[in-house]
Amino acid sequence: MKFFIDTANLNQIQEAQDLGILDGVTTNPSLMAKEGITGKHNITNHYKLICTIVNGDVSAEVISTDFNGMIEEGEVLAALNPQIVVKLPMTKEGLKATKYFSSKKIKTNVTLVFSVGQALLAAKAGATYVSPFIGRLDDISTDGLNLIKAIKLIYSNYNFETKILAASVRHTMHIVNCAKIGADVITGPLSAIEGLLKHPLTDSGLAKFLEDYNKGKL
Ligand code: E4P
Repeated sequence: MKFFIDTANLNQIQEAQDLGILDGVTTNPSLMAKEGITGKHNITNHYKLICTIVNGDVSAEVISTDFNGMIEEGEVLAALNPQIVVKLPMTKEGLKATKYFSSKKIKTNVTLVFSVGQALLAAKAGATYVSPFIGRLDDISTDGLNLIKAIKLIYSNYNFETKILAASVRHTMHIVNCAKIGADVITGPLSAIEGLLKHPLTDSGLAKFLEDYNKGKL
């Protein structure tokens, strides 16, 4: 299972990279805006910087909503670095663009996926990744993990190669449950990833070991 971090914050990306378990990064226009990165030039430079921190795939989202615009933008993004994955919305135009990039062997991530039907179409179009947003489904009282389970079943029924990238992950149990289901990748905030580290018995156990070691020094 791969771990991507869902942020455009360079310090957090570096922190996750330093943990030694980071496989990639996902961004979106909202995450860029949160870091104050605006304008094509700054955004492009930011993607280049992210690629210098991590070794894996870095999703860069197009802003265009029409096929031609998506192609033009996606080609520029893909040319920035081989790590770049063109992130396209799950719309009719986005689907056509996914097919186009797949035929050119350019990696894609189909985003804003909220149903199995959408995930099926993304796989048919040859997407590299499909991003079902589990947290946003949970937010509207719909079990996001059920969507991951259903996509997993359908993709394995037909041996689709599209990777399930569980997105909009909010906390540790999302990650653990995605791992149980067999999602290929999760993307979430640093807090959710680091949350996996924590256990009170680890902390108290370590404190006791150190206390006993120090007794021996007396
Ligand atoms: C996916 O790639 C998106 O960037 C992201 O996971 C959305 O998460 P959110 O629902 O926490 O905004």
